[in-house]
Amino acid sequence: MERASYAVALLAVTCLIASVNVFAQSNIPSFLNDVEPDNTAWMPDNSGNDGNPSPPAPVTPTPPTTPATPSPSAGSPPASTGACPGDPGYQEPWDSTFWDNFNIVTNGTHVRVSADGDACDMQLDADCSAVFGSKYQYFTGYFSAKLQLPCGNSSGTVFAFYTSSDGKMDDHDEIDIELLGNETSKHITMQTNIFINGVGDREMRHNLDWFDPCTSHHDYFIKWNSNIVVVGVDDIPLRVHMNNEKNGLPYFNKGQGLYVSYWDGSSWATQGGRIKIDYAMNAPFIANLNGFHHMSACQVPSERDLGSCKYPAVAPCWDRPSDHYLTAKQKTDFEWANNNFCIYDYCKDDQRFASTGKPAECNIPLY
Ligand SMILES: *[C@@H]1O[C@H](CO)[C@@H](O)[C@H](O)[C@H]1NC(C)=O
Ligand SMILES: *[C@@H]1O[C@H](CO)[C@@H](O)[C@H](O)[C@H]1NC(C)=O
Ligand SMILES: *[C@@H]1O[C@H](CO)[C@@H](O)[C@H](O)[C@H]1NC(C)=O
Repeated sequence: MERASYAVALLAVTCLIASVNVFAQSNIPSFLNDVEPDNTAWMPDNSGNDGNPSPPAPVTPTPPTTPATPSPSAGSPPASTGACPGDPGYQEPWDSTFWDNFNIVTNGTHVRVSADGDACDMQLDADCSAVFGSKYQYFTGYFSAKLQLPCGNSSGTVFAFYTSSDGKMDDHDEIDIELLGNETSKHITMQTNIFINGVGDREMRHNLDWFDPCTSHHDYFIKWNSNIVVVGVDDIPLRVHMNNEKNGLPYFNKGQGLYVSYWDGSSWATQGGRIKIDYAMNAPFIANLNGFHHMSACQVPSERDLGSCKYPAVAPCWDRPSDHYLTAKQKTDFEWANNNFCIYDYCKDDQRFASTGKPAECNIPLY
């Protein structure tokens, strides 16, 4: 974890203003620390930097359904429809703002919250990364934000939206979305990972090539309930992790906070770490997000005391029986996305797990 410690130390001396553990382990994928940047044997080398021609650009198929373009809230509080997060037509109730639920961790000059407390700009530059985190921890919930990444060359940057227990113990739980910058806004990669009881090594990568993440806001979400975790964008599930406790596998069992960070991942993020951030040429990097002020999640008394969130008297909105599996439409979308845009799946990496065997869930039907 040498590089991880370095990143944390660098942040601490530049502009950390609160002591919150926001750099959970997954943010520097440990499997990348051990490989030379030009020896990323764990995934197909399609960087084009190895003397081989790049593979032909994939023909971009049309999504089976066109996701509704989210309209950024412009200060006029929407009325709640009473539907659940993730349901068509759902609008966040206007019952809380950024300041009710989050703390800025790095310098406020780099996390600029709008007056209505619903939107913020996050700026990464040579002075500072941008980090904020929830004040509280939750056990199950629907976490989402509408996010627009900067256009242009964002090589070396990582925008992370993730839930994590505090990470001080080596048994932490975590669900990650990491958007890896690139030379253009095409081929921005969404890496996802899952840690349960401190065990990660479950990376998947999708290139977000069916839309342009820099020209408008898109809705990135993590749905976590008692039976399933679904991670995706604009209602397209890219990643599913089932509760397999009935098969003897561990599932999430701690409170987790929600964290958002924009930081320098030069050592690994873009094309296996070959292309690093050039602050002089490309910074500042400014991402904008909104639609995250309301927490659709069950707040726990503490990380290790799940209170009534573990066995709630009434199933919350994100944990209805209909939320326990993908719907037929979600399965179609999931398969479409994975057939066309998945560039790495840990469950298909025979070489990486040749000596240890693949994580057990890889041998169980996905859903
Ligand atoms: C935040 O950044 C501003 C502008 O770069 C600087 O003047 C200020 O000292 C910084 N504050 C902290 C706490 O680092
Ligand atoms: C960046 O773009 C290249 C092609 O230009 C692609 O091979 C790679 O998967 C993309 N993503 C990252 C994170 O490097
Ligand atoms: C993007 O920026 C990187 C430095 O971060 C540089 O090495 C690379 O050549 C740039 N790519 C393009 C297409 O300008």
